[in-house]
Amino acid sequence: MSYIATAPSNIALIKYMGKTNAELNLPTNASLSYTLDHLTSTVKLTATNSNDSWQPLDADKPIKLSAKAQQRFLNHLHKIKKQLNYQGHFIVQSSNNFPLGCGLASSASSFAALTKCAVNAIAEETQQPLIDINSQADLSRQGSGSSCRSFFKPWALWQGQQVKALDLPYPHLLHQVIVLSSTEKTISSSEAHQLVASSPAFEGRVARAESRLQSLIQALAALDWSSAYQICWDEFIDMHHLFQTASTPFDYMNNESRALLDKLQTFWQQHGSGPIVTMDAGPNIHLLYREQDAALKAEFEAQHLTGKHHVL
Ligand code: PMV
Repeated sequence: MSYIATAPSNIALIKYMGKTNAELNLPTNASLSYTLDHLTSTVKLTATNSNDSWQPLDADKPIKLSAKAQQRFLNHLHKIKKQLNYQGHFIVQSSNNFPLGCGLASSASSFAALTKCAVNAIAEETQQPLIDINSQADLSRQGSGSSCRSFFKPWALWQGQQVKALDLPYPHLLHQVIVLSSTEKTISSSEAHQLVASSPAFEGRVARAESRLQSLIQALAALDWSSAYQICWDEFIDMHHLFQTASTPFDYMNNESRALLDKLQTFWQQHGSGPIVTMDAGPNIHLLYREQDAALKAEFEAQHLTGKHHVL
């Protein structure tokens, strides 16, 4: 028997960066994300009598997973099987509709898809009831922290072991990611979670993130878009500052990211409006526009994005 599941990625506006428990992926601070329905991963599991193994799913556009990444994926499957007390094996196949490992949160969608597919496959194979969404998100978080937010939409709030949908305005934002580099990043987000603790700026980070979280929820609830933009800007700059000031500093921003960030700031100054801007652990820039700002989006694209910019 084969089983298939698809899950979306998500972009955090208040970031998960730093863990209190690396085994369970418990975060040092709460995070808030917007689910990205157009960036997805698909996982297919086929029951087999031999050992668990991984293969690319889409033969036309096969993804390449390093041996380490394949092992991490299979380890997560082992963890799920163990927790659900299942002894069978699967051939795991996966695909993504966007580039991997470059700050596009591919681990969020791929671990969410693997978890969804595995719990479903195990429920079917054992004729047991399917575990609920909260338990699925809890299992998924143990593979990749940010993946637990991909079970909820459009907004997801993750605090400690709890993750839930948050009822906020703007259910249909226009999301765009400007891919400035799709080469595999040299510092993984798992390494970043450890390294940030060595930055002098890590002291006070939890209080800053928590305070921004409350301000952002209030700003969004009050439809105060420009405050939301400013809070999200301060937040990703704060996270990148932690990277840049770690005891062994590292930096995901490149000159192109910096140049585009300058243009976005100028655009906001000129128009008094624009997109929410954020960056994950990579050089790429995520933009979220309100539906009513489609014309502003077109204007920014016409002015500042050229054929060399790859936009997803
Ligand atoms: O889920 P992880 O361990 O890949 O961490 C992702 C962390 C960031 O993407 C940088 C921020 C976030 O909250 O998604």
